[in-house]
Amino acid sequence: MTSSDTLRTTLVKQLTENGALADPAWAEAAHAVPRELFVGSYFVPVDGSAPTSYRTVRRDAPGWLEGVYADRTLITQLNGRTSPEDIGDRHVTGAPSSSSTLPSLVLGMWQQLGADTGHHVLEIGTGTGYSTALGTHRLGDGNITSIEYDPLVAARAASALRAAGYAPRLIVGDGLGGDPNGGAFDRLIATCSVRYLPMAWLRQVKPGGRILVTLSGWSYAGALALLDVTGPGEATGRFLPGYTSFMIARPHDRPPRPTLALLPGEESASRIDPTKLDSWTGSWVAQLAAPSAERMGSGGQQILSDVATGSQARTVPDPAGGWTVVQRGPLRLWDRVETAIETWQSAGEPHQEAFGITVSTAGQRVWLGSEDGPGWDLPV
Ligand SMILES: C[S@@+](CC[C@H](N)C(=O)[O-])C[C@H]1O[C@@H](n2cnc3c(N)ncnc32)[C@H](O)[C@@H]1O
Repeated sequence: MTSSDTLRTTLVKQLTENGALADPAWAEAAHAVPRELFVGSYFVPVDGSAPTSYRTVRRDAPGWLEGVYADRTLITQLNGRTSPEDIGDRHVTGAPSSSSTLPSLVLGMWQQLGADTGHHVLEIGTGTGYSTALGTHRLGDGNITSIEYDPLVAARAASALRAAGYAPRLIVGDGLGGDPNGGAFDRLIATCSVRYLPMAWLRQVKPGGRILVTLSGWSYAGALALLDVTGPGEATGRFLPGYTSFMIARPHDRPPRPTLALLPGEESASRIDPTKLDSWTGSWVAQLAAPSAERMGSGGQQILSDVATGSQARTVPDPAGGWTVVQRGPLRLWDRVETAIETWQSAGEPHQEAFGITVSTAGQRVWLGSEDGPGWDLPV
């Protein structure tokens, strides 16, 4: 078996060569932190399963350590309660609720955040503690505060951090409320996603400070935003290149609902090709336009169901060509999505990098191109 040191050196070399690790100080942190102290047994998807089911790779299984040093996310909890040890040799379905994020993304985010010596950083979503350890190695015990929602996950991370020799300040609770003692942070990094920016973050990051967070929603589209805090409760920023998604912060998750029944409604012809919603940015634009809707279906058969009002929209391919839309309820979901997708198309269907975000106590808005360009209000 290859040793942990060798595997870690290989991973750092790979991340340096592919450009994910450009800053020598973060490369040094990646060299120093043994990921295996933070990840015990983990879940992996069962090949070809639909819906995705998971099996456990146990700590004593052949290949476990090599898996720890692969540049991939290792899922460590499903449905907010099931850990890899709970399922034995069974295959289970479920929604990932805690993980160790892939090293290239974690290290990439620390670098994008511009976290530097002397900075005080608030991290939301301790998870396994791996990213916390990297940050603590680079910035020092006294400069990192990390909040984890799930007490069991937090307890495991705390003992892993101790075992690795790090002592950041750890808080168990809802990170959307920020540091319960208040704070004046230089940087905030979130490794869970949010539907909108919590006001506590904007009050606790100093003007001139930065927030790095993935914006997501109930259609599970995501985009990573880097915001500059410009004043108390105010920030502005841009979305970054790449394809970042994170599990949604637990209090921002969609409320449970009964099985969806598709109901009749008013029919019209769709002006847009519904398959646009299957693309990375197209699905995000649709989510901006219908922020309290869930998107199901795919291809020409999209289904939108609004959690807040029960409104529905669905598209059906027309045998004569094109697509029929069926809509019902107080919100005309497809009309909103259609207009947003057309706006995006007339800008040339850019990636999320072309979008920005402005936040103030008056509201939160994602815009396309420039602040005075077309935009969509977030569901604050
Ligand atoms: C993707 S994992 C974090 C990965 C972690 N940074 C690592 O390297 O292992 C997301 C974590 O965010 C936590 N989380 C979800 N909602 C939260 C909230 N409101 N406050 C704090 N943590 C939250 C989840 O329980 C989960 O452990």
